[in-house]
Amino acid sequence: MILAANWKMNKTAAEAASFVQGYAGGLSEWVVPTVLLVPFTTIPAVAEACSHTGIPKQRLAYGAQNFYYEAAGAFTGEVSADQLLEFGCRHVICGHSERRHVFGESDDLIGKKVRRAVDKDLVPIFCIGETLPERESGQLESVLTRQIEEGLSGVSATNLSKVVMAYEPVWAIGTGVVATPEQAEEAHAFVRKLLVSSFGASASRVPILYGGSVNAENAYTLMIRPGIDGALVGGASLKVESLLALHAACVKAAKEKGEA
Ligand code: PGA
Repeated sequence: MILAANWKMNKTAAEAASFVQGYAGGLSEWVVPTVLLVPFTTIPAVAEACSHTGIPKQRLAYGAQNFYYEAAGAFTGEVSADQLLEFGCRHVICGHSERRHVFGESDDLIGKKVRRAVDKDLVPIFCIGETLPERESGQLESVLTRQIEEGLSGVSATNLSKVVMAYEPVWAIGTGVVATPEQAEEAHAFVRKLLVSSFGASASRVPILYGGSVNAENAYTLMIRPGIDGALVGGASLKVESLLALHAACVKAAKEKGEA
């Protein structure tokens, strides 16, 4: 079970540092790791604040929401894997629906980022998910298949073990309309089947997170479902109390599923 917080374009460095202090201070156990996906400008402050918490890096990790796959060069406005690694980032989101839909990222570009991330030992949190028209016109499986095939093309079975998947139906992101536990479980099972058929049995260990309007009230009913291995949370991750409540819900589900 993993709890990943996607802060999107929120928080100054000072706000981020005080969040980390408050969150770490409120955590009573670390069995479920937390990953903070933070704005670039806050990464040094988050790194510094995390280093003072006494919580092991695997239990309170941080990373970025985006990066560019080239090593260096004339790519105005972009940030490389090495620039993230310099500050201790362990994770990076690839293929978030806002990158796909607001910034026009293609499956091909996302695939290049995923490959670069695993090559650099950054864990890509690789997001996939269908829009409402796609779901309503019966294209759920074909959309997920295309996103997975293109996003993971060229990734070896060994490197797949470094990937974290996130199923985020676009219609559920930031809308308050959460997928039902049945809808999420069904999509996760499909993603799992596809991964195992393409990469073999070891793909059964790749975590698949659910994202889209997860909050402290609905998290447990989703996380308790088989095949849902954690949450990627936007809006409800921005307040310390809310993320702590989400963490407690994940811990409860993980314990009941025998995972912690
Ligand atoms: P949300 O965002 O929790 O605000 O719906 C999730 C995400 O975009 O990862």
